[in-house]
Amino acid sequence: NAEADLAGRHVVVSAGGTREPLDPVRYLGNRSSGKQGYALARTAAARGARVTLVSANAALPDPAGVDVVHVGTAVQLREAVLKAAADADAVVMAAAVADFRPSAYAPGKIKKRDDKADPTITLVRNPDILAELSADRARPGQVVVGFAAETDDVLANGRTKLERKGCDLLVVNEVGERKTFGSEENEAVVLGADGSETPVPYGPKEALADVVWDLVGARLR
Ligand code: PMT
Repeated sequence: NAEADLAGRHVVVSAGGTREPLDPVRYLGNRSSGKQGYALARTAAARGARVTLVSANAALPDPAGVDVVHVGTAVQLREAVLKAAADADAVVMAAAVADFRPSAYAPGKIKKRDDKADPTITLVRNPDILAELSADRARPGQVVVGFAAETDDVLANGRTKLERKGCDLLVVNEVGERKTFGSEENEAVVLGADGSETPVPYGPKEALADVVWDLVGARLR
């Protein structure tokens, strides 16, 4: 996309997967590499936007010309995204955010003790950042985009999720142990709150990113 159609816009993108610590050496995490979110950040910058990328545990180099904020947990990601969203025209939540975190953090490494019962992990709910962003828009007309990582009934689950979260657009992609996570390509359907459906064929994550910015740009104009 040669034209700088996002010039003068500030966009916020989250990427990667949150890690929820159990003790100083262990965490609950997920398989997100951050590649889809970084592709969104790079393409937005190439189209002239000022970009804030909130990155959770992605082992990727900071993209040139992008403000990168590095975070670890879902609670930290929420803080950073809400702060950056205050003056943003659009927010795209591509990060895989943990829905739950361990209820307690053990300050020392949890030990295997043969005389004790196997330990159980109790989880508590994390804040739903996408639902919060959608419900309390930082400025009128701000466009909020979510992703849905689904393993089955992809479209039906996506439609339900779009309504529950209240965002303007939801990018529905299928995931598996080796599907989408970490790969260079993706395939998706972008659902609109207006009922629209935009299928994006299998291809580079940048191509999907450009379709997302086309749809965001149309809603900003
Ligand atoms: O990083 P890659 O390896 O390139 O893989 C890309 C991807 C699969 C991670 C990405 O394309 C993707 O689907 N990201 C969203 C993953 C996810 O958390 O999906 P979800 O269906 O669990 O969550 C739905 C939406 O709510 C997401 O926009 C998520 O950021 C947001 N969310 C979820 C939980 C929570 N507590 N707060 C949130 O804001």
